[in-house]
Amino acid sequence: MRLSIRLRQVQHNLAENGPLTTLYKVYFYIYGHLYDRLAGGLNTTSPETVETLAEDGRPLGDRSAAFPCHPRVLRHALMKLKITPQDVFMDIGCGKGRALVEAHRFSFGRLVGVDMISSHISITRGNLQKLGVDPELILGDARTVTFPEDASICFLFKPFPEEVIRECVQRLGSNVRAVILMGTSDLEEIAGYRLTRDYTHRPCSRFNYCIFERESVPQRLEAQPSQPVIADA
Ligand SMILES: C[S@@+](CC[C@H](N)C(=O)[O-])C[C@H]1O[C@@H](n2cnc3c(N)ncnc32)[C@H](O)[C@@H]1O
Repeated sequence: MRLSIRLRQVQHNLAENGPLTTLYKVYFYIYGHLYDRLAGGLNTTSPETVETLAEDGRPLGDRSAAFPCHPRVLRHALMKLKITPQDVFMDIGCGKGRALVEAHRFSFGRLVGVDMISSHISITRGNLQKLGVDPELILGDARTVTFPEDASICFLFKPFPEEVIRECVQRLGSNVRAVILMGTSDLEEIAGYRLTRDYTHRPCSRFNYCIFERESVPQRLEAQPSQPVIADA
C-alpha cells in the first residue's frame, strides 16, 4: 500500500484514538510484517483488500476488515486445550488466515476457515499453501453456511459483529468441545458450555480472550481428510 495512504491512516488514528492506541497499532503492524516475513513471506497483516478499503485509505468498517489476531495470544489459548490430531480447528471469519497459520503449528487433524469475502479466502489459501497446508475454506456468510460436523475447536475474533457471534455459536455442531472468543465481547454465557478461561491481554484489550468448554464432553468424530472446497453460500 502507498506510503501516503498509510500516513493518512496514522493521522486518522491519532485523531480518533489518541497517541497510545496509535502507537500500539504501529507496533502491531510492524510485528505482523516481521511475523509474515519469518513465516516465509505471508500476507496476513494488512487488514484491507480491494474489497474493503475506501478511497481515502480507511477500512470500510470493522465488519469487513481482515484485522488479524495476535498470534502469540491465540497460541496461549490453544496451549490450554491439549490439542490432538482428532481436533479440527475452525476459524469463523478467517480474514487473511493469520489464526489458521498459527493453528497449523499445533497437531490439528484439519483446518477450516470461513469468510464472506472472496479475496480473503484466496489470500488465506495462498498463505497456507506457502506452508504446505491445504485447509478447507468456505466462502459464505457465517450465519447461513453449514459448518463441518467434525469441527471441534472454534475460533471467533472481533471485530466480528456481536450478533454474528451469537448466531454462530448457537449453530455449532455437537463435536465442538471449545469455543475461543477473542476481543472484548459481552457474550458471557453460551448454553451447554462453561467459561473456563477469561484472559486479559495488556496493553490492548482487543486481544482479550475467553474460552468456553462444553459441559459434557462430546463423542469425538474422526477428523475428515481435508477437502479443498470453496462452497458458495
Ligand atoms: C477481524 S477479521 C478476523 C481475522 C482472523 N480470524 C484472524 O484471526 O486473523 C474478521 C473477518 O470476519 C469476516 N466476517 C465478518 N462478518 C462475517 C460473516 N457474517 N460471515 C463470514 N465472515 C464474516 C470479515 O470478512 C473478516 O475477514
